[in-house]
Amino acid sequence: MADQNPLLQKQGNDIRRMFAGIAHRYDLLNRLLSGWVDTYWRRCTVRLAPPTVEGPLLDVCTGTGDLALAYKRKNPGRMIVGTDFCREMLVYADTKGAKTPDQNMGPVFLEADTLALPLLDNHFALTSVAFGLRNTQDPHLALAEMLRVTRPGGRLVILEFSMPKWPIIGGLYRWYFRAVLPRIGQLFSKSPDAAYAYLPQSVNNFPQDEALCSWIREAGWLDVTYRHFTLGIATLYTGLKPPLG
Ligand SMILES: C[S@@+](CC[C@H](N)C(=O)[O-])C[C@H]1O[C@@H](n2cnc3c(N)ncnc32)[C@H](O)[C@@H]1O
Repeated sequence: MADQNPLLQKQGNDIRRMFAGIAHRYDLLNRLLSGWVDTYWRRCTVRLAPPTVEGPLLDVCTGTGDLALAYKRKNPGRMIVGTDFCREMLVYADTKGAKTPDQNMGPVFLEADTLALPLLDNHFALTSVAFGLRNTQDPHLALAEMLRVTRPGGRLVILEFSMPKWPIIGGLYRWYFRAVLPRIGQLFSKSPDAAYAYLPQSVNNFPQDEALCSWIREAGWLDVTYRHFTLGIATLYTGLKPPLG
């Protein structure tokens, strides 16, 4: 599979360039290709995975900022920071963020690599990532960086695509995901990197359920659990940073 698409080698510059090329259509295609279900997943995520301790919230690989903004709506009193290494995606995050009330509490969007966050240790009450971990060059390092910047007792939140295991629905979804979605995505985005062909291939190459939970535990997170959304098309993973002492 890795031979099919050079993007699966996940060189940082290639991934950044791919997202820069689709930033102008990213939100529209998220809505269209998911039938608006992606906004529902983010709402469920902020409801089911609230912060466990006091402090600001961080969303890495924030892209156009939708999960950061969903956390802000639910937690108006908390400072929210979103980071991503693709400036073109952050332009859209900034535009949406500027429309939210109480700008003193963010969202603040920063250009930063998730593998080397320019942020303090033990600072954030919750660190989240939606559909981003899979795209990083080194997901193990990303999980370790997220642990470093999270407060003891603070929460990890990961929202990621998964493949439904139900025989008929799973088969239909796989056909949609592999045959239909890349064509619609290409039609609307005109991605020079065929970003929407990369999407199903990258999901296919990435661990899910217990396999991803193992990676999360190996990075040092505790109480790692997952639950499926919408017949297993997306999965929410959560964990906690070990408390001090
Ligand atoms: C599929 S988008 C997800 C955006 C957003 N979280 C959402 O829910 O729609 C993946 C994002 O991860 C970012 N990304 C991938 N690797 C990264 C890295 N190493 N550091 C920072 N951002 C990264 C990309 O630039 C892109 O904006």
